[in-house]
Amino acid sequence: MARFKSITLEWREDRVIFIDQRKLPIEEVYVECKTHEEVYGAIKDMVVRGAPAIGASAAFGYVLGAMEFKKKPEELAAHMKAVKDRLAGSRPTAVNLFWALERMERLFASTPSLSHDELIKTLEREAIAISREDILTNMAIGMNGASVVRDGDGILTHCNAGALATVDYGTALGVIRSAVEMGKRVRVYADETRPYLQGARLTSWELMKSCIDVTLICDNMAGWIMKKGYVNLVVVGADRIAANGDSANKIGTYSLAILAQKHGIPFYIAAPLSTVDLSCNNGEEIPIEERSHREITHIGEIRIAPEGVKCYNPAFDVTPWNMITGIITEKGIARPPYDVSLAKMFESTH
Ligand code: MRU
Repeated sequence: MARFKSITLEWREDRVIFIDQRKLPIEEVYVECKTHEEVYGAIKDMVVRGAPAIGASAAFGYVLGAMEFKKKPEELAAHMKAVKDRLAGSRPTAVNLFWALERMERLFASTPSLSHDELIKTLEREAIAISREDILTNMAIGMNGASVVRDGDGILTHCNAGALATVDYGTALGVIRSAVEMGKRVRVYADETRPYLQGARLTSWELMKSCIDVTLICDNMAGWIMKKGYVNLVVVGADRIAANGDSANKIGTYSLAILAQKHGIPFYIAAPLSTVDLSCNNGEEIPIEERSHREITHIGEIRIAPEGVKCYNPAFDVTPWNMITGIITEKGIARPPYDVSLAKMFESTH
């Protein structure tokens, strides 16, 4: 049995261990999952979050599901289908979750004659391969994206598309890391990202740990700092990109794209091709998760809104393709029209 460790998750032969992203940056504590049901809970409750990170996590959940099986061999296929469906039900928007589970399921279906032990080893190798590939993919995204960063740039980012949202290195933050590794000086502005505060809690923590200059702002300050000329570039991640380039990302991204357009600032999405869902023609077809109203009415344990107030809490929005300057992937930077440029990138991968 093999082991794997990154900042976001660790695979330790019979369990997956996550840094608890709900507790950062106040506490650095870890959550151990020994069953696929526990991995389901960790994704749903956002112990682990971010599109590529939940994909890799689900792959390990699938391995745990195979390990749990103790019945007759002829019942294994139905068990694994139930494991996959359960994990796939954890969060709806990030397509990497379904991408990783389908990859695991394809492998399972293609190896019917393996013993149970061999099957587990095969699935475990695949989950580790997904994790390792994610890091290499992010480094390639970083290298490709660093070309749009100029020395001295002020870069605005939203939510957390960093090491914590992936297996390691990050997508949007990967672009920033690569630019810094090339010697470019940058100032990063991190939106706090209401209501879950991924920017305040995770992006600022991550960038400070990497000694990258970061300034935390509230979401409603973005327009003003653009007006003041502090921002030359916006780079964010994505949870699902439709075939035409419409991109779903953390709620608030669409507003940033409008602000960037108004101020003539380039607006880039950084994401792996596993985030592109060619089965969605456009953003209208991307399912948008709605989360608990408590995320709006409370900050941590503290109530900040009157009891019983009506709330609406969509976790993602969709930025239309024609507001996106480029989509930075591991294969290069796709430019509009994206139905053509993204399709070409897929052709070159097969
Ligand atoms: O709700 P979250 O924290 O899972 O949302 C995460 C984002 O929106 C990220 O920007 C996206 O997943 C890209 S991560 C590289």
